[in-house]
Amino acid sequence: MNKRTIGILTGGGDCPGLNAVIRGVTKTADKFGISVLGFHDGFLGMIEKRFDMLSFERVSGILTQGGTILGSSNTASPFEHVIAEGGQTRKIDVSQQCMELYRDLGLDALICVGGDGTLTIGGRFAEMGANIVGVPKTIDKDLMETDTTFGFDSAMVTATEAIDKLHTTAAAHHRVILVEVMGRNAGWLALESGIAGGGDVILIPEIPYDIELIAASIRRRSRFGRKFSIVVVSEGAMPIGGTQVVAKILADRPDPVRLGGISHVIADQLEKMTDLECRVTVLGHLQRGGTPSPIDRLLATRFGVKAVELVITRNFNQMVALHGIEMQSVPIQNVMGKQKKVPLDSPLIQVALSVGTTFGAPLDMSLRG
Ligand code: F6P
Repeated sequence: MNKRTIGILTGGGDCPGLNAVIRGVTKTADKFGISVLGFHDGFLGMIEKRFDMLSFERVSGILTQGGTILGSSNTASPFEHVIAEGGQTRKIDVSQQCMELYRDLGLDALICVGGDGTLTIGGRFAEMGANIVGVPKTIDKDLMETDTTFGFDSAMVTATEAIDKLHTTAAAHHRVILVEVMGRNAGWLALESGIAGGGDVILIPEIPYDIELIAASIRRRSRFGRKFSIVVVSEGAMPIGGTQVVAKILADRPDPVRLGGISHVIADQLEKMTDLECRVTVLGHLQRGGTPSPIDRLLATRFGVKAVELVITRNFNQMVALHGIEMQSVPIQNVMGKQKKVPLDSPLIQVALSVGTTFGAPLDMSLRG
């Protein structure tokens, strides 16, 4: 009998912990005599038939490495594959060819490590008959049905360290420093790093802001002798009645909108309204790089081991998920095409309000933190 083989790919934007998942999957599979085949560059490797076998030796020592040894792509979708023809591009559906490759390779299952885009594509392959297991990855923590995703904690460490450093220089120069963090349409990273870093103002997409209220809180601090302020801004933040600031549109991508730049808009307004010097630091892809935090190494390893357990128990078309301290799984269909945003009744918002942080909006404070 041929050795069983499972495929694995890492899709979407990278984040710390991807290699820890690959290692967790490969080492666990090895223990059960199962081979692991890694596709290169996410679904692009399936489309272009680029892959190799992952041995125990190949994954040894990668636990602490950022990035992914398999490469990733946030452009490739087998359902909308972009091809160039006669100087023009058009999208074609190559999902059937990918299914043929899956069968030709004799894969028992495909582990898709990624965010909503990758898991949605994985879910569509599940509907076509593939055995899919999803592993939730993203610094945005915006996936449904899991308490958290790996990558988020490492990004939190990076963002919080940055806020700490900016705090001292802001205080020394009596400046307002705006720190722009990633997170697309979900404000988890801004909210949690903002609380952890003691941000004076936190702006998230879920709570549109009033610039007058932000300026008023900074002027109030100034009157009480605190002539500096830290404003933690989610890249997706927007004014009441306004829109998000789009940095670019990448037309050929499944998710074409790239946000960025809102903190510069706010800084210009605040400088005029407060008479304080306002500076901006955009953390950008720094938040996706570097070695995974211990929490992410642990979580990613647990996710990888659980993913193989699901394959062995033939519990397919599931996403591994953290519920409390338990490693569980949920139907991948429950996650497809959805985004988990910060609810307005989040206890974290109350915690921030309780310690005097403003969201630039008239929010009620009730001690439920
Ligand atoms: O989803 C992860 C993420 O890092 C977002 O926080 C950010 O908006 C986006 O990806 C950036 O994508 P790219 O690397 O394509 O600029």
